[in-house]
Amino acid sequence: MTTESKILITGATSGLGREMAIQLASRGDAILASGRRVERLTELQAHAQITGHPLDLNSNTAIAKFCAETGPLSGVILNAGITFADPFISGDFETDSALIQTNVIANIQLIRSLLPTLKHNEGRILIIASLGGLTPLPYQSVYAGTKAFMINFGLSLREELKHENIKVSVFAPGGIKTEMTDIPAMKSLEKDLAPVENIAAAAIKAYDKMPALSVPGAQNKLIAGVSKLAPRGFLAAQAEKIYRKAREN
Ligand SMILES: NC(=O)c1ccc[n+]([C@@H]2O[C@H](COP(=O)([O-])OP(=O)(O)OC[C@H]3O[C@@H](n4cnc5c(N)ncnc54)[C@H](OP(=O)(O)O)[C@@H]3O)[C@@H](O)[C@H]2O)c1
Repeated sequence: MTTESKILITGATSGLGREMAIQLASRGDAILASGRRVERLTELQAHAQITGHPLDLNSNTAIAKFCAETGPLSGVILNAGITFADPFISGDFETDSALIQTNVIANIQLIRSLLPTLKHNEGRILIIASLGGLTPLPYQSVYAGTKAFMINFGLSLREELKHENIKVSVFAPGGIKTEMTDIPAMKSLEKDLAPVENIAAAAIKAYDKMPALSVPGAQNKLIAGVSKLAPRGFLAAQAEKIYRKAREN
């Protein structure tokens, strides 16, 4: 690994990405923080060890330019993500496509473009997925689909890239108190959301240890375990009831 190599974190301007950037930088890792909100990137640069670089994951041209300009990387934490937490019927295709672009396509483009530097530095890829990719998530159906994609993609890629000296790990947290969940549809579930500091610490542990798949928190581990055993249709129906009630409260 070269001494100047950095860890790229996407979606570092808020929530989990921001907290991971701060925690990793405070222990001495050099961080390349990205996101669209430039003022937030400037704020982050007050922390020694963090460099900000604006990037809009909706633009494949911008991603290509970013990857061409990026120096050596020892790791990539694919964290940026968006959701649409409303009935599918009230959404629109433009939102669906932005969600798939941000949560899936941009990640694939980043990994593909950054393979040379990651291979050179025996690098790491941590994919921030979601418990919603392991269990059905009605009223966030497109989001759940993107996260299920990233879990299966990540676990498959892990086995391929081990032969290239690149480690891949998938991290699947449950609800976290961030901007993503600061929405009316989540209000009644607020008490169940985990503090972002704790989940960032768990994600960093995953980055250090690189397990195939990790789920932070006892309750979420239980849900992930049950999701392997219970019929998926049954789980989907239970989840629909919970999230419909949450929306009504
Ligand atoms: N919060 C939860 O309950 C929860 C649960 C499980 C998994 N997760 C996952 O954890 C990750 C982080 O979520 P969070 O809760 O921290 O959300 P958040 O606070 O809303 O942060 C999302 C980040 O993604 C970035 N982003 C969104 N669209 C982008 C785009 N087009 N280009 C570049 N950056 C973009 C945002 O930056 P800009 O707006 O500045 O671009 C922001 O930094 C996501 O992948 C999410 O799916 C969250």
